[in-house]
Amino acid sequence: MKKKNIILVGFMATGKTSVGRQLAQKTGMQFVDMDALIVEREGRAINEIFATDGEPYFRELEKELSKELAQQSGLIISTGGGIVLNPDNIAAFSATGLVACLTAQPEEILRRVARCQSRPLLADDKEKKVRDLLQQRRPLYEAIPFQVTTDGRKPEEIAARILQQFHS
Ligand code: S3P
Repeated sequence: MKKKNIILVGFMATGKTSVGRQLAQKTGMQFVDMDALIVEREGRAINEIFATDGEPYFRELEKELSKELAQQSGLIISTGGGIVLNPDNIAAFSATGLVACLTAQPEEILRRVARCQSRPLLADDKEKKVRDLLQQRRPLYEAIPFQVTTDGRKPEEIAARILQQFHS
């Protein structure tokens, strides 16, 4: 069956949003950033959602949005790093789309998130949190068949690699 969407999965700061924009530009498909859509619909920032209603509430929003988007077609979807925590999300996306898992070395991730204040799971000791979360989630990311390394590669190159796979 022809895949209808491209879904970008991966740890925080692996470049899902910039690669997604490149893909949308190259294909003319519509770009959807799940975090941005959740923020828009909730009318508040991710930090605020976590602080007020907790992580389980955010995961519920993610789950519902995954189901909704997986039923559409012609989309480039950039997911939040925790999308892999619920296997139903990946199953829903994989049923109709190409799921690409972007990877980066922990040192590169740490460099990229160094000054970021908008990720609630990385408050305080960023280095420890990045390493712990990467370790916990590694098997979930590795379970995705199509892996794309981003270290030392520009978003254009990464997008080209994903498109090659999408059209194959
Ligand atoms: C999260 C990643 C974030 C955002 C939220 C939780 C995670 O998205 O969904 O802060 O659990 O890894 P990015 O991967 O775009 O940073």
